[in-house]
Amino acid sequence: MLRVSLKEYVKGGFAKLSNFSVDQIDAPKAGQLKANQILVHPLYISVDPHQRGYMDGNGYKLGEPITNYLVARIEASSSDQLQEGDIVIDGSGQWQSAYITDAQNVTKAPVQEGINPRDHLGILGVSSFTAYYGFVIKGHPRKGETILVSSASGGVGQVVVQLAKLHGLHVIGVAGSDDKVEYVKKLGADAAFNYKTCGDFNEAISKAAPQGLDMYYDNVGGPFLDAAILNLNNNGRVIACGITSQKNVQCHDDIYGIKNMFQLISKEASIVGINSLSNS
Ligand SMILES: NC(=O)c1ccc[n+]([C@@H]2O[C@H](COP(=O)([O-])OP(=O)(O)OC[C@H]3O[C@@H](n4cnc5c(N)ncnc54)[C@H](OP(=O)(O)O)[C@@H]3O)[C@@H](O)[C@H]2O)c1
Repeated sequence: MLRVSLKEYVKGGFAKLSNFSVDQIDAPKAGQLKANQILVHPLYISVDPHQRGYMDGNGYKLGEPITNYLVARIEASSSDQLQEGDIVIDGSGQWQSAYITDAQNVTKAPVQEGINPRDHLGILGVSSFTAYYGFVIKGHPRKGETILVSSASGGVGQVVVQLAKLHGLHVIGVAGSDDKVEYVKKLGADAAFNYKTCGDFNEAISKAAPQGLDMYYDNVGGPFLDAAILNLNNNGRVIACGITSQKNVQCHDDIYGIKNMFQLISKEASIVGINSLSNS
C-alpha cells in the first residue's frame, strides 16, 4: 500500500518532485476499527492551490500523509450511519491507498443519476462553493454591472464567469493561454484576454472594460490586482479569493506590494477577503 508525504519542506519557490516521498506502508485492517470509525479507499483526490501554503512547515508534517479533499469508498465500517460500499467526501482525506478515520470526519455523497462521485471535487465541490460564496454572498452583484475574473478557466473562476452571466453582468475573463481564452468565451464571457500576451495589464483591462469595473474577482493577486484596482469604478468591489501569482515566491519580501490602494479612498471602493473553507 502506498502513502504520499512530504520529504522536505518547500521553503520558497515551486514545489519539486524531490520534496515528496512515495512509500510502501502496512495496510490498515478492518480489525483495527474503533467505535464509529471507517476504513476507506480513496477513489479521487483533489489537487488544489491552497495546498502549497501547507508545504512550508506550517501545515503538512514530514512523513505524514498529504491531506486534502477526496472522494473515497468505505471498505469497512463500525458506524451505524455508514456502510461498506458507501461513497464519502473527506475534506482532510489522506493521500494513501487506504486509511482509517472517524465517521464524523466525512460526509456521505448523495447518490443521484447523472452525478459522478468525482463531481463532488469539481462542479459540486469547494471550487463552486467558493465561487458562489465570493461572487453572490460577498460580492452583492447587480444586473448590468461589469465584472473582471482572473484565472477565469480555473476551478473557481469558470464558475464565477457562469454565475455572473446568470446574474446579468457584463463578464470579462482573463486566462493564461489562447485556448483557455476561447474556453472562457464558450462559458459565456462577453470578452476575454490572455494576460501572458496582452502587454501592460492596465491598458489591457481598460481596453476590455472602457466602462470600468464594478467588481473584480481576484484569484491571482500581485501586479494584476494592482492594475484592476486602477480600473475600479466608484463603489467598486474586489473579492480577494486567491494569490496564485504570489504563492511560489522565494521569500516573504518578494511578495508584490500593492501600489494603488489610494484608489479605494477616492472611489469609495472596497476589498473583501473570503474564506470559503471556514464557511462551507
Ligand atoms: N479564499 C478561499 O476560500 C479559496 C477557496 C478556494 C480557492 N482559493 C484560491 O482561489 C484561486 C483559484 O483556485 P482554483 O481552485 O480555481 O485554482 P486552479 O483551478 O488550480 O486554477 C489555477 C490557475 O491559476 C493560474 N496561474 C498559475 N500560475 C499563475 C501565475 N503565476 N499568475 C497568474 N495566474 C496563474 C493558471 O491559469 P492560467 O493558465 O489561466 O494562468 C491555473 O490554471 C487560488 O489562488 C486558490 O488558492 C481560495
